[in-house]
Amino acid sequence: MSQEAILDQQYWEQRYRQQQTGWDVGAITPPLKAYVDQLPTKDLKILIPGGGNGYEAEYLHQQGFTQVYLLDIAAAPLQNFRERVPTFPAEHLLQEDFYTLSQSSFDLVIEQTFFCALPRSLRGAYARQMFEILKPAGKLAGVLFSEEFTAPGPPFGGRSAEYQAYFEPYFKFLHFEPCYNSVKPRQGKELFIELERRERPQFIA
Ligand SMILES: C[S@@+](CC[C@H](N)C(=O)[O-])C[C@H]1O[C@@H](n2cnc3c(N)ncnc32)[C@H](O)[C@@H]1O
Repeated sequence: MSQEAILDQQYWEQRYRQQQTGWDVGAITPPLKAYVDQLPTKDLKILIPGGGNGYEAEYLHQQGFTQVYLLDIAAAPLQNFRERVPTFPAEHLLQEDFYTLSQSSFDLVIEQTFFCALPRSLRGAYARQMFEILKPAGKLAGVLFSEEFTAPGPPFGGRSAEYQAYFEPYFKFLHFEPCYNSVKPRQGKELFIELERRERPQFIA
């Protein structure tokens, strides 16, 4: 079976059911907390795609952000989240495929271990879909792995030059550098990114 064929909803539901969730650190991570803590207003429309158990959504909610959306293709983590954070608006929990998401006009999308969970063949489409769902000048911010892994994925690693090629047509690069405050197991292995959506795609011939 090909890599792409198995990374569907069923695959992820099973990972949660079998508690094979090594990516789950149980809390918002320091780079994302530091980023959230400097956001200027609480009314930004924010999406956390492939957000799993949703610790970023929980933190944002606790801090008084009112337009936070947690998206995952799997039902299990959203159910966990609902039980853990009962005051979070149920209509902001989206069990959908990121690639066919109907909501748009986000001010900010937060990335953590979602990009690396997707088949490599969908990376270009990830950048394009981020462009589609963000407002002009909206931001994509978070962390990406900065090295290749020897073990078969997910997670799938990568290098910054490869990533730049996906994002360059759609985004200006505000931050795209080694992350200094990663959680311990990911230290030296992450890039911190903050990308600003272009008004329109810019393809260099
Ligand atoms: C490696 S986990 C990361 C979860 C979370 N970001 C974290 O750091 O704990 C990847 C998540 O992406 C979700 N996912 C995979 N493909 C997806 C898709 N096409 N649309 C939405 N969610 C997806 C999975 O169900 C899973 O919860």
